[in-house]
Amino acid sequence: MNHHEQLYKEAAAFIVTCYEELDMSSDAINRRLVEIKQQIEENGTYTHTSEELEHGAKMAWRNSNRCIGRLFWQSLQVFDARGLKQEDEIAQAIVDHIEYATNAGKIRPSITVFRPEESGREVRIWNHQLVRYAGYATEHGIVGDPISIELTSICQELGWKGAGTHYDILPLVIRIGDQPPKWFPIPEEAVLRVPIEHPEYEWFADLHLQWYAVPFVSDMCLEIGGIRYTAAPFNGWYMETEIGARNFADEQRYNMLPRIASLMSLNTSTNTSLWKDKALIELNIAVLHSFKKAGVSIVDHHTAADQFNRFEQAEEAKGRELTGDWTWLIPPVSPATTHIFHKHYNNELVKPNYLKQDVPYTSTQPKPIPLKCPVHH
Ligand code: ARG
Repeated sequence: MNHHEQLYKEAAAFIVTCYEELDMSSDAINRRLVEIKQQIEENGTYTHTSEELEHGAKMAWRNSNRCIGRLFWQSLQVFDARGLKQEDEIAQAIVDHIEYATNAGKIRPSITVFRPEESGREVRIWNHQLVRYAGYATEHGIVGDPISIELTSICQELGWKGAGTHYDILPLVIRIGDQPPKWFPIPEEAVLRVPIEHPEYEWFADLHLQWYAVPFVSDMCLEIGGIRYTAAPFNGWYMETEIGARNFADEQRYNMLPRIASLMSLNTSTNTSLWKDKALIELNIAVLHSFKKAGVSIVDHHTAADQFNRFEQAEEAKGRELTGDWTWLIPPVSPATTHIFHKHYNNELVKPNYLKQDVPYTSTQPKPIPLKCPVHH
């Protein structure tokens, strides 16, 4: 099969499913298929209608095997930004997305879709998430988020200067085709941050932990009907374990468990005191408490699992086969307390979907060896 035939095949499969779900007639389907065939023959590609783009982006969320939050797939707000040509227009649309989705804490799941891949002029956002903290390898240890060290040094090479705190927001880095990448600071007012405190442990606030309110994944490719949208940042809201059991807890991230355990006066000299587990639970309680107190949407892993259960039932009622990635769907805290742990999921890839794409930048420096105990104020 040549490229045009392959594209038409993918397009047709999408159009039929999409139009049926939207209750469109078979006449409408056939008319649209003829049109698409013509467009592909003439231009080598075709253009989605805004309705197709909107429903395709929602289907892609519904098909995201690793996502526990899929019950809400129909509520996705889709911003069609395919008309934007320049880096600065794209950066502005991203800031608008951040503000719309943040909504002073009442988070709205949203996606902004930029021009799809076309020969030589692919749009890529170099950030893994629109909002993420910089990471610096200093002679006194790592400052900030160790996971960002590589992108941070690339931003510095491009001319960006961070304040050097543990929580500097990285600038947006946008590249079109083979032009040099451009960077844009995100206005501080656009980024909502949540200071972390504990409902009972007063000392917890003195750790000066904070996390940003909204996770915006920005490096995945949205594929709909054979068209690849290489820049299509999207957001939902956080589940507390993402922050409390991973970002703050992982040894290769903020590595806070030893500090928290010792402030809790736990015996950290033996595994059998389960000090890591106890510290982990209190950290997760603190994250949930702080987001609630700040009026920022967040879900705990038990409620998220219940919602996923409802999603499973809704999909079954619609006669759709459920797909899922068990290794990602189970929460990292108390997994066996959720129904997900006790089930089997089929991890097949169904499209439309959000796909991993290769890292757009090449590493310029050797990776520093992470220190066991990062310096932390
Ligand atoms: N796990 C990532 C983080 O901690 C965010 C991934 C998307 N999460 C979400 N709830 N939509 O930043």
